[in-house]
Amino acid sequence: MTSEQQEVFEPPAEIIDDAWVKDWKAIEAEATADPRAYWEARANELEWSAPWEKVLDESGAPFYKWFTGARTNIVTNAVDRHLRTARRNKLALIWVGEDTSRVRTFSYFALNREIDRWANILLAMGVEKGDIVTIYLPRIPEIVFAMLACAKIGAIHSVIFAGYSAEALNARIDDSESKLVITADGSWVNGKVFPLKDIVDDAVKFSPSVENVVVVRNTRSDVSMDTVRDHWFEDLIKLPIAKGHCETVQVDSEDPLFILYTSGSTGKPKAILHTHGGYQVGTYTTLKYSFDIKESDRWWCTADPGWVTGHSYLVYGPLLNGATVFMSEGSPTYPYPDVFWQLVEYYGISALYTAPTAIRTLMRFGDAWVNRHDLSSLRLLGSVGEPINPEAWRWFHHVVGKDRCPIIDTWWQTETGMFQITTVPTMPQKPGSAGRPVFGQEAAILDEAGHEVPDGTEGFLVLKNPWPAMMRTLYKDPDRYVSTYWEKYPGVYLTGDAAKRDEDGYIWVIGRTDDVIKVSGHRLGTAEVESALASHPAVAEAAAIGLPHEVKGNAIHCAVILNQGYEPSKELEESLRQHVAETLSPIAKPDGFDFPEKLPKTRSGKIMRRVLRARALGQDEGDLSTLENE
Ligand code: WT7
Repeated sequence: MTSEQQEVFEPPAEIIDDAWVKDWKAIEAEATADPRAYWEARANELEWSAPWEKVLDESGAPFYKWFTGARTNIVTNAVDRHLRTARRNKLALIWVGEDTSRVRTFSYFALNREIDRWANILLAMGVEKGDIVTIYLPRIPEIVFAMLACAKIGAIHSVIFAGYSAEALNARIDDSESKLVITADGSWVNGKVFPLKDIVDDAVKFSPSVENVVVVRNTRSDVSMDTVRDHWFEDLIKLPIAKGHCETVQVDSEDPLFILYTSGSTGKPKAILHTHGGYQVGTYTTLKYSFDIKESDRWWCTADPGWVTGHSYLVYGPLLNGATVFMSEGSPTYPYPDVFWQLVEYYGISALYTAPTAIRTLMRFGDAWVNRHDLSSLRLLGSVGEPINPEAWRWFHHVVGKDRCPIIDTWWQTETGMFQITTVPTMPQKPGSAGRPVFGQEAAILDEAGHEVPDGTEGFLVLKNPWPAMMRTLYKDPDRYVSTYWEKYPGVYLTGDAAKRDEDGYIWVIGRTDDVIKVSGHRLGTAEVESALASHPAVAEAAAIGLPHEVKGNAIHCAVILNQGYEPSKELEESLRQHVAETLSPIAKPDGFDFPEKLPKTRSGKIMRRVLRARALGQDEGDLSTLENE
């Protein structure tokens, strides 16, 4: 252990007095002894219209089922039940545009009204229980309404981050066979319009399944509307069918709530499937305990609803807890590097949950931007998406949190649906360690052969217990679900991350062990980047790797073999970068390029990324005995 890893921050007394979890050791011991009883007690805090027969059904493992036989709907718990209490008139959602003078607020009553209108429209458009609706919307309130409206009628939402290209969107729409796509005219990105509707037009041109496109007016930019297929939401809302109450349909606990595409080791994205019953228990409980959420909180999760963090902890988790959700359309540095702090001060944010890449970006602008604002409303800070380096942790703690606010570092994945390794505010925190497995979970660090490694040794991070918000399968690909997560070490869940455990049981996550790169916290597959590059006329073959980057955590570096007649140049690099942005997404733009004669490959033709990484970093290339003749 290095001295850095011994650094411990004890929780401040005022947090402990008032926390949901005071004696965490007792709860941890109790939950570890009987995870089912722990989860059953949590589930009993929510409403179900019919009880479960079993808390956990392991008979079809690894296709686990939770709260089998129960009837519920996540909207009953996230919205409907609050309407019967004084929460009806409290704020559910405060939204601020990139232009911060655009503000929209919704009480729980108003949120419900909007969801009802959306749900009525979906039903009128023929959306039925079990249908998949594709949502390609920016960070505006309508994305929340549309997601909840799908859930309300038992439809399955498939949110695609509104930064993906037409090609990527098309692949996801086709895979899910959506009949309906919900989008906007455009989104605001640093003062410019990103043309969402144009992208949708390109994406659905050859999609056999899409019958209707609903378009929300946001940027008021010019778009073309197909007279049969496309509908302005603002026209639909005026129709009589949009009016009135829409019943929240009670579904089976195991009925799908959403699919969410994420990157894996191959070029084909995986559709992670989550269900109503277990997911609501998992997201409700973990947000409540780890962020000590109370209904008095103003909770700001800066993630986009297009990622799982937005699903679990911008939309569902906080509403299940009856908190007030704060949502901002803009980025952390536009128009000024203090827009975050200005919003925290003005809206009295009590908990701020963001990503290490945002923290590092803001840190580089210096303390003065932070110090000109009164941040005394903050009680808790949070981090997610990639390991947070101790330097950024300390800056966040000291400069933003004034040494008063615990930092909750949360390790989890699209697949896990909810936090898996984190702390609660009353636990000591160690900068750089995500913390301990959540109550009811146990983690292990294994070597290649599946033996637990000694503390302090790096190995493969696995999770030993099933948990309620776990993915149920990969949509349309159950075999890949089994082979990716459950086959290497039978009986435990393979996370794909490397980690160490220290003598206090704290986990130190190191990073991915597979061909997944986290760039600014965004998850990308090397194969996706490579296939985007390969469709450029200059490219014969390409290999992508992640290299350490001070702000982004990792940056994409590509080794490219050029076709005959092409020469390396700055212009060509820029053209390749643009091409990746257009065919995949701007978030996937490579940082650097190499143009070698050949790619290092094993005799069986597998690219040796380890060698590429060593070359790019100017390090020793290590054992090259398996390399085919260069
Ligand atoms: C991967 C999952 C689930 C939140 C958003 C990311 C990395 C995530 C942490 C953290 C270290 C982290 C892991 C993981 N990761 N949070 N607190 N500390 N690494 O979800 O896009 O599915 O990515 O993100 O490598 O496997 P995701």
